[in-house]
Amino acid sequence: MRTVYVNGDYLPETEAKISIFDRGFLMADGVYEVTSVLGGKLIDFPGHLKRLERSLDELDMVKPAAFDDLLDIHRDLVRMNDIHDGLVYLQVTRGSDGDRDFAFPDPKTTAPTLVLFTQSKPGMANAPASKVGVKVISIEDIRWGRRDIKTVQLLYPSMGKMMAKKAGCDDAWLVEDGKVTEGTSNNAYIIKNGRIITRALSNDILHGITRAAVLRCAQEAQMEIEERAFTIEEAQGADEAFFTSASAFVMPVVEIDGVSLNNGVPGPIVQRLREIYLEESLKTAI
Ligand code: PDD
Repeated sequence: MRTVYVNGDYLPETEAKISIFDRGFLMADGVYEVTSVLGGKLIDFPGHLKRLERSLDELDMVKPAAFDDLLDIHRDLVRMNDIHDGLVYLQVTRGSDGDRDFAFPDPKTTAPTLVLFTQSKPGMANAPASKVGVKVISIEDIRWGRRDIKTVQLLYPSMGKMMAKKAGCDDAWLVEDGKVTEGTSNNAYIIKNGRIITRALSNDILHGITRAAVLRCAQEAQMEIEERAFTIEEAQGADEAFFTSASAFVMPVVEIDGVSLNNGVPGPIVQRLREIYLEESLKTAI
């Protein structure tokens, strides 16, 4: 059984409790981070903490713990649960003042709720999907306008994933005003004539920590990068495509709305980027 962390305590998962009035549960009033673990070490950890701080600030939420303590909790859980490869999930909510109310409770009297747990994924760096690539469909992006904040409002991304599954695919790319914003839980890219194209950062997309690291790697490898939005039609005519996230790293996309890319197999640039990213991120893992 897993050991999880709730508001200062390490507990067996079956003994962990939060209030039914918690605003994370009632209002999706909470933010989260997912950090991957490879070889027992945290990948891109400072980036995840920095984004957590930004999400909290944007929503006027107080920090649930000192950031050094958050690193210790991550490491404790990795050790206690014997995680070699996997994920650490962290969620902070605005807590509960013991009732349901649209107005935020006073942070002086209502503490945030802090929950962390691990997910073991042995061999995550060699996931079978990364060898064969994934298929995506496109769906309309009807999420709210602050996608740069990593909130726990994940119903539409979950629905998108189900629409993809129903269509015999793996994931969905979201389209707004004719252009791809991002994937349900990842940032989207295409490659044309050796150039990597991905939407620029704004409130329209989550500022992926893996995105930042992968673009850094691409730059160091002298690859050309163009930060701009693209259409599904342009993506279908691309040489290669991929998405990035803390759980998928660099994932080749081999089919978009039924159109195959690179004859339906992962292309050379995506494969190289994945290798470089994994190699580099392991160097800075803590
Ligand atoms: N999802 N865009 C969205 C909408 C996301 O949910 C995620 C991450 C990303 C990629 O961000 P990062 O590289 O920092 O993981 C982009 C996480 C993994 C999840 O919800 O499980």
